[in-house]
Amino acid sequence: MGGIFITLEGCDGSGKTTQVDLLKKRLKELEIPCLVTREPGGTPISEKVRSIILDEQNNSMVWRTEALLYAASRAQLIGENIVPSLNNGIHVICDRYVDSTLAYQGYGRGLNIDDLIAINDFATSGLKPHLTILLDIKPEEAIQRFSRRKTDRLEKEKLEFHQRVREGYLQIAKKEPDRFKIINALESIKEVHEEILNKVLSTLIN
Ligand code: TYD
Repeated sequence: MGGIFITLEGCDGSGKTTQVDLLKKRLKELEIPCLVTREPGGTPISEKVRSIILDEQNNSMVWRTEALLYAASRAQLIGENIVPSLNNGIHVICDRYVDSTLAYQGYGRGLNIDDLIAINDFATSGLKPHLTILLDIKPEEAIQRFSRRKTDRLEKEKLEFHQRVREGYLQIAKKEPDRFKIINALESIKEVHEEILNKVLSTLIN
């Protein structure tokens, strides 16, 4: 496979979307061809799945359904966009990936991690990112950010849920230190951006 696959992860309110946008802009200026996409979503089918998952009215959704829908959205995005891009030598930057499922549905909801890994191995054919950037923030601080805007079904979860998600991310990162770069999301937008850019560029060059 020619392209490099990079994912960005973090709790709700970590500033991830802002950073993905800045990174996208900068890579364009540097004329580095890459596909920037997001989960859940990124293809017409996956976006439809996204709207089912995040719909506030779907509060009867059981957790296994949620996990399977994320995996379904992911399988489509990989098959339709990510793998063809990587095969053509185009780098891919994805806002969230399998680690989100392990952190939210595993550590957050309490679903069995090995089951989630098995479902996601099937959905992704085992495709792993070369680099994962984790924007780390305490949920108490993150909640102040997203309480200012309209929230979706997952963002409405209580503080303890988001604390488990954050802990989960840190545990996952600890197991794979070579893949993860943890960045303190409380730094300024500019500082976080520079750190992400440096790490991404060094990964693309090596
Ligand atoms: P989104 O609005 O894209 O949030 P963000 O900008 O923070 O990425 O909504 C995605 C929500 O779905 C977010 O709360 C995290 C959650 N999620 C999971 O629970 N599991 C997953 O596998 C993925 C990809 C996302």
